[in-house]
Amino acid sequence: MNALTRDLIKLVDMTEEMMKEKEQKEGAVHREKLHLMPPAGWLNDPNGLCQFNGIYHAFFQYSPFNAEGGVKMWGHYTSKDLIDWEYQGVKLYPDQPFDCHGVYSGSAFIEDDKMYVYYTGNVKLEDGDFDYINTGRESNTVLVVSEDGKTFGPKKELMRNVDYPSDLTCHVRDPKVWKEGDTYYMIQGARTKEDVGQALIFESKDKINWKFRSRVESEKPLGYMWECPDLFEIDGQQIMTCCPQGVDQKGYDYQNVYQCGYFPVEFDLKNKSYSFGKFQEFDKGFDIYATQTFADEAGRRILIGWMGIPDADYDNDATVAYDWIHALTMPRELEWKDGKILQHPLKEMKDLRKNAFTCELEAFTKWAPADCCFELRLDVEEAKNLELKLREDVTISWKDGLFTLSMGESGRGRKQRFAKVEELSDITIFSDTSAIEIFINNGETVLTTRVYSEHLEQKVELVSREVKGSVHGYELGSFEVEYKK
Ligand code: FRU
Repeated sequence: MNALTRDLIKLVDMTEEMMKEKEQKEGAVHREKLHLMPPAGWLNDPNGLCQFNGIYHAFFQYSPFNAEGGVKMWGHYTSKDLIDWEYQGVKLYPDQPFDCHGVYSGSAFIEDDKMYVYYTGNVKLEDGDFDYINTGRESNTVLVVSEDGKTFGPKKELMRNVDYPSDLTCHVRDPKVWKEGDTYYMIQGARTKEDVGQALIFESKDKINWKFRSRVESEKPLGYMWECPDLFEIDGQQIMTCCPQGVDQKGYDYQNVYQCGYFPVEFDLKNKSYSFGKFQEFDKGFDIYATQTFADEAGRRILIGWMGIPDADYDNDATVAYDWIHALTMPRELEWKDGKILQHPLKEMKDLRKNAFTCELEAFTKWAPADCCFELRLDVEEAKNLELKLREDVTISWKDGLFTLSMGESGRGRKQRFAKVEELSDITIFSDTSAIEIFINNGETVLTTRVYSEHLEQKVELVSREVKGSVHGYELGSFEVEYKK
């Protein structure tokens, strides 16, 4: 361990300890009960998601010292059941020349009882006339191995910018690794010098020596940069996910500043051929980015996203005031059905239910759960017009094939998001202290948002009457997060 690592360990511990004391004294305002957050400071992408010897691991991009962002390291949570979590501290510090400006995003690959973690070591050069696109930035691919999921061996730099194709900018990052037959593959996001977003495919026989093999891009360019790509199969369909930057809004598509979604694809990695289907967004809400998936030991394909987005024009100052920012989405199980990915809340979430409430929609006016942490399911038999008020000033409505999420003051600059939903069959809402996730029509459409209610008025109110069906509400117990290291 070098002197910098030693000091960083101490500083992170002190910062987290101070935050704990502050929250004990002043209360933990806006802190989630169903979503993972940074113990202190800033969180962004989920990283290294996996299940290793039965234990679930969720690492995350973490800047504990500053809720407005700073140098990135990997924080670490583990769980036995995806409900209760234990904070394990910071596992990867920016302490080497090849990652000194950030241990950027990456993934975990499990084989032979070992966890192989691949990430991007970010370096920003100083003292030069750099634009940090074509010059001044290093994106190094790094490997670090753990035998127990708790401690990591030495970092090994595997690739540098010279190992990537020469027509790319310096922006290459976010390795995700998997195996097919006897070959290991790695996908990374990239920006070309022509400003086209692409994914790069690398190949290896030993997980250590990697060679660039091919690159993939959509038929027409979709943005100038793809971040956090992922490639996997569900229910026999290959899927490539990525986060394109630089895509203009088109009707109700691409309403956020950066996008996050998937292409159904057909990749023949051996023969370097591929074809892309239509890009579809994962989530039509305000706060979603940098999703990553993993297959758990039961074979489920589980997705977790960053419940935030870079460079948004709405704010999260409500939590910055309390020295933290951002959270991860709840884990979602993916299913491929009728040409679409469906996203389902995990069945484990049912264990948190208490104090059930049920009613016919025709008779439903109000439900007042004891806490803002609740699950509400509407099964719709017939609807012409539906409008539901949640919490203080959030309204969801459906009419004429359009679903609308409207935020009042508590949206902190978030206003409206729209999703085309031709027929409405069901809506499931998970409401947390400062977040709402809405699943429509068996998870075909999802909307996620942060929300900062002042008074946390616990009330769900059905405003429109032109609807038939039933409603089921459950108060939810919170998951436990243990901060032991
Ligand atoms: C996505 C991203 C990644 C990068 C990481 C840095 O949000 O920009 O591309 O690795 O965040 O924190």
